[in-house]
Amino acid sequence: MRFWIWSPLFACLMQIGAGSAGAADIEAGKVTFKKCALCHTNEKGKNKVGPSLFGIVGRKSANLDNYNYSDAMKKFDQVWTPQTLDKYLADPRTVVPGTKMIFPGIKDETERENLIAYLETLK
Ligand code: HEC
Repeated sequence: MRFWIWSPLFACLMQIGAGSAGAADIEAGKVTFKKCALCHTNEKGKNKVGPSLFGIVGRKSANLDNYNYSDAMKKFDQVWTPQTLDKYLADPRTVVPGTKMIFPGIKDETERENLIAYLETLK
């Protein structure tokens, strides 16, 4: 009897706990962005070695007029959704073979999730 009273409450608390642990941490993502900032800005129209990442989430790949993309990136031809970004950032040179983005990737899933949550704020 006791179990039946407490178990729904327990399940509910577990979900709250899981929810907060699973939520992306934008501030942490901003710290990770420092790795990208070597080659990318978060400002509109400002390219460095790499293209500006302003508005990157939802943008088509290789879509900036004022940036000279590699043929590999031009051929990739996909929209940068959180999903495509997640794959690309885990291992850029496998997902876009021949890209001139010389970056080994971010292997930690949570770090990528936080970074992408930060990238989503750049609009
Ligand atoms: C060493 C420099 C360098 C670093 C570090 C770097 N990038 Fe890049 N990135 C580039 C270059 C160069 C390109 C253009 C690639 C091409 O044309 O093949 C690029 C392209 C991209 C693109 C495709 C942009 C578009 O307009 O299609 C995304 C997205 C991207 N980088 C995200 C990131 C993120 C996020 C990080 C940090 C985790 C990062 N990059 C780190 C150099 C870098």
